[in-house]
Amino acid sequence: MSAEHKVALVVGANGVIGRNLVEHLAELGDWTVVGLSRRGGADRERVTHLQVDLLDPEDCREKLGGLTHVTHVFYAAYQDRPTWAELVPPNLAMLVNVVEAVEPVASGLRHISLMQGYKVYGAHLGPFKTPARETDAGHMPPEFMVDQQEFLERRQRGKAWTWSAIRPSVVGGTALGNPLNLVVAIAVYASISRELGLPLRFPGKPGAYDKLLEMTDAGLLAKATVWAATDERCANQAFNINNGDLFRWNEMWPKIADYFELPVAPPLPMSLDVVMADKESLWNAMVEKYDLTPTKYADVSSWTFGDFVFSWDYDMFADGAKARRFGFHEYVETETMFRALFDDLRRRKIIP
Ligand SMILES: NC(=O)c1ccc[n+]([C@@H]2O[C@H](COP(=O)([O-])OP(=O)(O)OC[C@H]3O[C@@H](n4cnc5c(N)ncnc54)[C@H](OP(=O)(O)O)[C@@H]3O)[C@@H](O)[C@H]2O)c1
Repeated sequence: MSAEHKVALVVGANGVIGRNLVEHLAELGDWTVVGLSRRGGADRERVTHLQVDLLDPEDCREKLGGLTHVTHVFYAAYQDRPTWAELVPPNLAMLVNVVEAVEPVASGLRHISLMQGYKVYGAHLGPFKTPARETDAGHMPPEFMVDQQEFLERRQRGKAWTWSAIRPSVVGGTALGNPLNLVVAIAVYASISRELGLPLRFPGKPGAYDKLLEMTDAGLLAKATVWAATDERCANQAFNINNGDLFRWNEMWPKIADYFELPVAPPLPMSLDVVMADKESLWNAMVEKYDLTPTKYADVSSWTFGDFVFSWDYDMFADGAKARRFGFHEYVETETMFRALFDDLRRRKIIP
């Protein structure tokens, strides 16, 4: 193996975020990638998959103890729980289990990248200071992302490897079977609206339609994550990563409706979790009617997350200038991102 050759362990390789990281690293050419998840995936050139339950320390030691060649760990695993407090134990334990299994055996370890988000700024709790900056003061726990970062900082002291923490906004990607997937939720909601002969109505809270927000394209995020993990200037630093433009649903929603060739009707606050609960048989009939790739309704139903995002009746954005100051200059227009991701879902015959 040449000194330049790098071995990535992508933890959470089936996620909205992890899947794009695996793709990006595989395309770069000078990386070998090990993808880690419970479900696993198909091996191909430069990419192998490991099935591990990160909540089981024994399973981690057994299956990760041989990863002596890993140079970079990209941590993007996630366990969903109903409350902020319940998120802490499993999400901290998974990171600790990976690091404790890999760090002692991987003698060439150079970097551990941690995927975070705007929860670090309290964005999920209510109106928070915008634009949020990496230097902003912390907030009252529980907050699993903060606990994860503190664990990494403690663990790194006196070691040869470095860490980085990446903070995206809502991520735009098309992985399936994931709890946090806004783009798939919108695409399926729009497709079902169309099937029922309905216009596209914004289902969020009154007020959420007019507020400023931003998103982070999963492809852009993958590039930024690898950049921060390999540029020495980024050692032991956190970075907000976003598309670079702001939008309001009142402008974006009609554009989304236009993509699905639907008229727009005035917003009507409703819980997607509630109103989409009985649409499974309709979805199955649509899969048949349009000859779609068989996809379980549960795997395209991020309704709780949709409700969460559409409940933000306050501005939701962070300052992305630090990443630019440190040398990352890419951006994605959010409308173009939505269209490209919807196109991808159509190409893969996930939606009609
Ligand atoms: N999605 C967003 O919009 C967004 C926005 C900002 C920040 N974030 C943050 O980014 C991080 C990753 O989010 P994501 O949306 O990419 O998550 P995700 O789509 O739910 O992916 C989670 C990954 O973790 C794996 N995983 C879960 N439990 C596991 C276990 N016990 N053992 C091994 N692997 C396990 C899953 O694969 P298997 O199911 O196959 O195990 C999957 O690959 C989270 O901290 C999240 O809060 C996400």
